[in-house]
Amino acid sequence: MKASVTKGLGQGFAVEDITIGDPVGHEVRIAVKASGLCHSDLSVATFIGGEFPVVLGHEVAGEVVEVGPLVSQVKVGDHVVGSLIQYCGSCVNCLGGRSYICLRPEATLRGADQASRLSWNGAPVAQGMGLGGFAQEVLVHENQLAVVPDEMPWAPAALLGCGVLTGAGAVLRSAEVRQGDTVVVIGAGGVGLNAVNGARLAGAEKIIVTDLEDVKLDRARAFGATHVVNSRTADPVEAVRDITGHGADHVFDFVGVRPVTAQAMQMLGRGGGLYLIGVGGMDAGVDVSALTALTYSQKVQGVYMGSSEIKRDLPFYASMYLQGRMNLDDLITKRIALDEIDAGYESLTDPSSGRVVITDLS
Ligand SMILES: NC(=O)c1ccc[n+]([C@@H]2O[C@H](COP(=O)([O-])OP(=O)(O)OC[C@H]3O[C@@H](n4cnc5c(N)ncnc54)[C@H](O)[C@@H]3O)[C@@H](O)[C@H]2O)c1
Ligand SMILES: [Zn+2]
Ligand SMILES: [Zn+2]
Repeated sequence: MKASVTKGLGQGFAVEDITIGDPVGHEVRIAVKASGLCHSDLSVATFIGGEFPVVLGHEVAGEVVEVGPLVSQVKVGDHVVGSLIQYCGSCVNCLGGRSYICLRPEATLRGADQASRLSWNGAPVAQGMGLGGFAQEVLVHENQLAVVPDEMPWAPAALLGCGVLTGAGAVLRSAEVRQGDTVVVIGAGGVGLNAVNGARLAGAEKIIVTDLEDVKLDRARAFGATHVVNSRTADPVEAVRDITGHGADHVFDFVGVRPVTAQAMQMLGRGGGLYLIGVGGMDAGVDVSALTALTYSQKVQGVYMGSSEIKRDLPFYASMYLQGRMNLDDLITKRIALDEIDAGYESLTDPSSGRVVITDLS
């Protein structure tokens, strides 16, 4: 099959003919129909690194074509969405309803004594996040898949697996925003706009979005932001305090650089929560004054993948989309072919671009 292989740091994405194994145990082989370009894969390919050669891509939707002998949760013909959340299903965190922080995520992968799922010229090829979605086919553990309705279109389905789970999940699952709450979203990118989607679903009264680009803020308004603030031209802390009167109930930081996160902390009202989602550099973080935090009962929480339970949340978000209650179509500004990934990532540097999705896998 054809797959886009990253051979080393800074070497980009090149289509090659590679071999994919047959499903064993709980593995499922899917024919990829759409695969989103998430920034994290570009970070792995350009500066984080890891195992090479590798097939990256972790926002993937496709149709099940073959299942291993132990598979019980999906069947051939099902439309599925993949997620990078890997969980065993039997540790205390999984059993406690927190599979996103599973203690044995490696249970979803093949062991060292088994053949690699992917190979190229007889040598193993790594699979990004257990998925490897920049390919015509994916071989993945059934725990990393959720079934979505057949009528769910492929491109928005692919976005559910990372950007939607993270952005909407941060609001609905991590923060459990309630009707009437005030929400601040810092950074109106692909993930932040899904937080706006989530805040609308939750019934937040005020949804304040900050960004540096007017074109991003215009899009945020179209998604349901009630107020927008350009942090280049206005002090975002003052603006949030003016709009809310006394600070926000929930502030979501999708940027993750220290000066921005410090501002985010100052936006909190009494009893407010700051949620750390974006990581803009290795030193991302925030200083917390214990005196202020305890006096005003404030909290800071790191958010991994929107605290999502994928078997519950992926079908839920698909349903919200199909009911017209979640805007995913306007997130997608470009559709590309499998051999256009480098140019696709390049196009993301244009502030007017949204998400890029591979839909031509021929
Ligand atoms: N925690 C998790 O589990 C998880 C999962 C997926 C993605 N992420 C992270 O979420 C972050 C957002 O991802 P994305 O795909 O939406 O990125 P993106 O680049 O599309 O969006 C970031 C946005 O922030 C804006 N921005 C930059 N500096 C700003 C500032 N000072 N003030 C206000 N806005 C500013 C940019 O203009 C842009 O619109 C990334 O850091 C990504 O790695 C985290
Ligand atoms: Zn991602
Ligand atoms: Zn587990």
